Amino acid sequence: MAAELNLILFGPPGAGKGTQAERLRGDFQLPFISTGEMLRANVRDQTELGLKAKEFMDAGDLVPDDLIVAMAGERLGQDDALDGFILDGFPRTVAQATALERKLASMGRRVTAALLIDVPDEEVIRRLSGRRVCVKAGHNYHVEFDPPKHDSVCDQDGSRLIQRDDDRPDVIANRLRVYHEKTKPLVDYYDSLGLMRRIDGTRDPADVHGHIRAVIATLRLEENV
Ligand code: AP5
Repeated sequence: MAAELNLILFGPPGAGKGTQAERLRGDFQLPFISTGEMLRANVRDQTELGLKAKEFMDAGDLVPDDLIVAMAGERLGQDDALDGFILDGFPRTVAQATALERKLASMGRRVTAALLIDVPDEEVIRRLSGRRVCVKAGHNYHVEFDPPKHDSVCDQDGSRLIQRDDDRPDVIANRLRVYHEKTKPLVDYYDSLGLMRRIDGTRDPADVHGHIRAVIATLRLEENV
């Protein structure tokens, strides 16, 4: 039986995590779990969690750790995540990382690796200012780098393309500040555990995808040794 892969994908806002998620979904038999997507679904459905989270998300701040840890912990206990997963956007603070470790340890499991998609701030600003997402499933486009075939219409499901509320310039600036202050310390954290793998996110999406696939294939070989 193949060894279990419990992977974390992280990086600054706009690094291309969602873009790569769509490509990686088809490559590996691993559920892709995005806390950002889960939160946006809760906001859309106006759940109690969604109502609490919206204010933080709209401002580009992090949703409080206790809410996120409970939501992610519940998701990781579901059947499809028991043989491995790729987490996108969680953990995002050292407190979330230690909570994740405790949760996995309680199931006799551990993190296999943390993959950092690294992109400088000026590129983040260019990417997020031009990003458009479809209202139906959140498929990603960029007005300049990855435009849809027909203006403002999703190629995949024909729904309308919009700009996310947190892609306004003032909110982007705050999201970057929050990333450097609260999430960047995870680089040292996972480095010290020997779990960090760095991906150059400035290359085009196909190259980034190829690099991530190669890293995951190597991890799989190492886990099977
Ligand atoms: P989340 O949805 O996780 O947002 P994020 O991390 O800020 O990431 P994005 O979704 O903005 O960017 P991405 O890296 O997926 O980039 P994308 O592929 O779209 O979180 C949203 C909010 O939820 C947070 O702000 C917070 O409030 C809350 N939250 C979530 N998790 C939380 C947690 N654990 N704790 C607390 N709060 C939490 O790409 C961006 C653009 O660039 C697109 O237009 C794309 O077409 C383009 N692009 C992508 N790759 C390339 C490339 N290689 N070259 C050129 N263009 C590219």
